[in-house]
Amino acid sequence: MTDDRNWVPQSVDVSVPSPARLYDYMLGGAHNFAVDRQMGAKIEHLMPHARSAARINRKFLGRAVRFMVDAGVRQFLDIGSGIPTVANVHEVAQAVAPECRVVYVDRDPVAVAHSELILAGNDRAAVLQADMRDPDSILNAGEVGRLLDFDQPIGLLMLFMVHWVPTEDDPWGLMKHYREALPSGSYLAITHLANDHDNEGVRAAATRLSQVGGEQAIERGKDEIAAFFGEFELVEPGLVRYAEWRSSGPGDISDDPTVNEIAYGSVGRKP
Ligand SMILES: C[S@@+](CC[C@H](N)C(=O)[O-])C[C@H]1O[C@@H](n2cnc3c(N)ncnc32)[C@H](O)[C@@H]1O
Repeated sequence: MTDDRNWVPQSVDVSVPSPARLYDYMLGGAHNFAVDRQMGAKIEHLMPHARSAARINRKFLGRAVRFMVDAGVRQFLDIGSGIPTVANVHEVAQAVAPECRVVYVDRDPVAVAHSELILAGNDRAAVLQADMRDPDSILNAGEVGRLLDFDQPIGLLMLFMVHWVPTEDDPWGLMKHYREALPSGSYLAITHLANDHDNEGVRAAATRLSQVGGEQAIERGKDEIAAFFGEFELVEPGLVRYAEWRSSGPGDISDDPTVNEIAYGSVGRKP
């Protein structure tokens, strides 16, 4: 945690909790404010395994990125990337294939400020402040043009991200726009809060967050989440609980089944 705010962009409202800083708090990161920690403690009260859920999602990230690197992908676009905490995409990918290139995108200025610090001097990774709901501002950005070659497969990551996009903003139309921009052989990874789980703590936490000026996370059904992949072919084992997607190692699955079932996850390939 930190309250040394020299690095905080002046535009940041430090009196309202943000999803990016709350998630950082849940992951044990250092880039959150008192308001985030207070809200984080309330969320943990409502959902005692919130930290476990955040960690399991990061484990999914690691498995999905390694899967894509093994499949030959060498460039990644991580939208809603969050505050760089542990096992970021460039670290996972470049550990296997150092030539991998990564563009991070987040609309949260704190996430972007920290990503810039972490990526300083790394000429194969960059961060861009943009809103997922404006795809052209991302796809046409200078960082994307410099680091990503749209004639080669790209790994697009939208992890714990699309559930922040309200239904009235047409997340399916937005995802179609992104899918169409990618070349054949590209991959898309999504984790997304489910609406068919029994973890009432998640719902209580989401409601609490929205009540204090934070955002509302939208839980969606399996078919609705599957539709984000469109014509992409889901690799085995398809769309499953995020903890269960190609899980293999310690920490991939929680010992609390209600944590494992709160979200779906999958990876699809563009034919
Ligand atoms: C829970 S974090 C997930 C971080 C990371 N993707 C992961 O799975 O570990 C969600 C992130 O999405 C970002 N976000 C939410 N809505 C967004 C939008 N419309 N455009 C860009 N980023 C957004 C938030 O700022 C936050 O950093």
